[in-house]
Amino acid sequence: MLAFLESRRSAATATLREPGPSEAGLRRFLAIAARVPDHGALTPWRFIVVRGEARNTLSRHMIDALASAPPEDRLLAEQKIKKVFTIAPVIVIVVSRIVAGDIPAVEQTLSAGAACMNLVTAAGAAGFGANWITGWAAYHPVAHAALQIGPEESVAGIILLGTTDSTQPDRARPDLDTIVSYWNPDMN
Ligand SMILES: Cc1cc2nc3c(=O)[nH]c(=O)nc-3n(C[C@H](O)[C@H](O)[C@H](O)COP(=O)(O)O)c2cc1C
Repeated sequence: MLAFLESRRSAATATLREPGPSEAGLRRFLAIAARVPDHGALTPWRFIVVRGEARNTLSRHMIDALASAPPEDRLLAEQKIKKVFTIAPVIVIVVSRIVAGDIPAVEQTLSAGAACMNLVTAAGAAGFGANWITGWAAYHPVAHAALQIGPEESVAGIILLGTTDSTQPDRARPDLDTIVSYWNPDMN
């Protein structure tokens, strides 16, 4: 497991293709995604799966909803929609939902981020390519409407899953010495 974590990296989104995880495989990854620290056991996240023909139907919904937008905005949005919803065979939208009460919102958002990372890690451990993205589809009101994301919710991540032959070289990782310090009374 440590060796996997030491070498894992995201697959380039353009390389993600069929086959995606089976339904049973995906449910296993989603169960792992739901096994994350969650202060107060609020389950402050939920998952929307888009796969198969639903990808095209959803894309069409979004494009149709942009009918009255200026043509250049519509064209740009259409390209973004296609990139996110028609390339990877399986898309999981991790929705963060803040539950009112004593637990700070930031902690609930962090729990949603942990769910995103567990999903990416689980799929990667099973040999699938994965990439955690956001962008237009995570923030635009038209996307929120099509995905039925409520006003009290936000998108923590859109996780693209599929088979990949992505061989991109690793990216630069931070030098631990620049981000780790050992507390001592004279630090400042
Ligand atoms: C919250 C969040 C949102 C991201 N959104 C995007 C995005 O919209 N587009 C993109 O190309 N990468 C995005 N990334 C970065 C990708 O996940 C990227 O491929 C990743 O940082 C590569 O990291 P890795 O090599 O450690 O897997 C996002 C990352 C995070 C954590």
